[in-house]
Amino acid sequence: MPARILARIAGEIAVCKKCALCESRKRAVAGEGPADAEILFIGEGPGFHEDEQGRPFVGASGRFLDQLLEQAGLKRADVFIANVVKCRPPGNRDPRPDELEACREYLNAQIEAINPSIIVTLGRVSMGGYFPGAKITSIHGRMQKIDGRFIIPMFHPAAALHQPALRPSILADFANLPGQLNEARAALGRRPVERKTNTANRKAETPRQLSLF
Ligand code: URA
Ligand code: SF4
Repeated sequence: MPARILARIAGEIAVCKKCALCESRKRAVAGEGPADAEILFIGEGPGFHEDEQGRPFVGASGRFLDQLLEQAGLKRADVFIANVVKCRPPGNRDPRPDELEACREYLNAQIEAINPSIIVTLGRVSMGGYFPGAKITSIHGRMQKIDGRFIIPMFHPAAALHQPALRPSILADFANLPGQLNEARAALGRRPVERKTNTANRKAETPRQLSLF
């Protein structure tokens, strides 16, 4: 029962003291989404608002992520959203290697339970779990099979918020997701997803229409 397993993992995360990040966190953020989600997004770690609310991607980058999902014809309620570390690094610094190492078992257990068709890593730190040493500018948006799973590295929504030059890339990568999902499903022997929305039209939307500001 994936839902029961995910609930047990979330319970362990809520009281975890395996690394120093437990000392400064307000709330651990296990992640959320359907237990049978087809797409799993992996961010970096909770920020200020996530730490307050105990939920992933609820701040500015979360709102941008919602827009990116929508323009790709996807609903947030249909995807699972997690992070590589479940507790907020002080001042939003990058998680340290020992913290990544201590927390990885939770993410691995979540991946096993959800068994998604596609994993999307958001940002450099999350990408590092699958493509150590790779440059995100050269591999973003490209789906690759690693250890039997289809992984697509993408820019972090926060990076695209702060660097407008990255926005067309992140928008294009999200627009490609539905097609890549069907590719992954076919390769995994799963049925293709029937889509009511016309993703070809959506793809034509300009980034400007989606600006938050
Ligand atoms: N940034 C992340 O990487 N994860 C969150 O949950 C929120 C912001
Ligand atoms: Fe535990 Fe992960 Fe939080 Fe560290 S970041 S205390 S390993 S849940």
